[in-house]
Amino acid sequence: MRKKASAWLALALGIGMALSGCSSSNSSSDNAKQGSQKAGEKLEIFSWWTGAGEEDGLKALIKLFQEKYPDIEVENAAVAGGAGTNAKAVLASRMQGNDPPSTFQVHGGAELNEGWVAAGKMEPLNDLYEKEGWMDKFPKALIDMVSKDGNIYSVPVNIHRGNVLWYNKKIFADNGLQPPKTFDEFFQVADKLKAKGITPLALGDKEPWVATHLFENVLLGTLGTENYKKLWTGEVSFNDPQVKQAVETFKKMLNYINEDHSSRNWQDAAQLVAEGKAAMYVMGDWVKGYFVNDLKLKVNQDFGYVPVPNTEGKFMVITDTFGLPKGVKNPDDVKKFLAVLGSVEGQDAFNPLKGSIPARIDADPSKYDEYGKQTMQDFKTAELAPSLAHGSAAPEGFVTKVNQAVNIFVTQKDVKTFIDTLASAATELKK
Ligand code: GAL
Repeated sequence: MRKKASAWLALALGIGMALSGCSSSNSSSDNAKQGSQKAGEKLEIFSWWTGAGEEDGLKALIKLFQEKYPDIEVENAAVAGGAGTNAKAVLASRMQGNDPPSTFQVHGGAELNEGWVAAGKMEPLNDLYEKEGWMDKFPKALIDMVSKDGNIYSVPVNIHRGNVLWYNKKIFADNGLQPPKTFDEFFQVADKLKAKGITPLALGDKEPWVATHLFENVLLGTLGTENYKKLWTGEVSFNDPQVKQAVETFKKMLNYINEDHSSRNWQDAAQLVAEGKAAMYVMGDWVKGYFVNDLKLKVNQDFGYVPVPNTEGKFMVITDTFGLPKGVKNPDDVKKFLAVLGSVEGQDAFNPLKGSIPARIDADPSKYDEYGKQTMQDFKTAELAPSLAHGSAAPEGFVTKVNQAVNIFVTQKDVKTFIDTLASAATELKK
């Protein structure tokens, strides 16, 4: 409200020019200068990136945008909660009420295409891609993830890797352990740690997606990329013996987690590894942003990383993208923001802080740490698998059902009920 009032006042007094260059988020709309839309129409950027490990990249991107467009008022409308736990519900009710934010975070893949695009809520951005010369600047696989029926609907700001096992270097060194490459090795290491009284695996499933994140990695490691992908098209059934095997492995892993897992969120669970209270953690590489920016840990010194057991050569892809909802009052301003977000400069401002790698193929590797450089290399050669927990593999309704089923399974550990629930939910997937 305060921002709106100050923008309105600035306009009324005709002092927009005088304000430009002042504190960024209060900058007023000076239409004459930027040729942008109606005065006072702020650029509302909707995401779930608030707080520890999440917001630094976004703030850097907004800062860059405001340096370029000081006269467009920006509102950072982030709603807290990992993986969009709360933001997605807020977004849904706003979209239903025809009150879309100017632009919002949405995962490439089903969440975008089967969700907002299928509902007729998004504008195509083909013209922007052409104007910015982006068609050969983003990997084709990624453009495909944000396209439906020949139109492109959003701009990827990053690529996160989901199949990473983070580990505490000191615990591993003190106990003469090597990070596990297979599930068998994982259980050998876990038994040794448990015998020493160290929690082998951190979990923080206060928000339901976190357990799903672990489960999808076990699915990928057990089924392999091709069959894992076929789960989401219905070509491989959840009644397949390989799925049962994955569920058994997942169940066994749950014998090695911290007792207070259901009261921790993803950051709290990561903290266990940072503080040496747990040895390993399966999480996407937003954890690296959290470890480095917030906890001031050093890559490959305080913590190490390897692909989740059995997933070497595979890359669980998560891509955060932003688009242009239909009916916004400032589409030209939104496109300006998307152009910055999709530029090399924008991606290199955002990603080194976020823990992700740039979505563009021509970003500057020197801006990234060892982890980032390695991940950029891995992305080029790995088999790519879409994340379920992070919206790419299947529509939101299915993800919600899986989240519920996984969380019941974590407490009840009933393999048959879990598989039956997954199989019945999967009947709604597109064949
Ligand atoms: C993912 C998102 C990431 C990160 C993570 C934790 O869904 O793609 O950027 O924010 O959730 O909140």
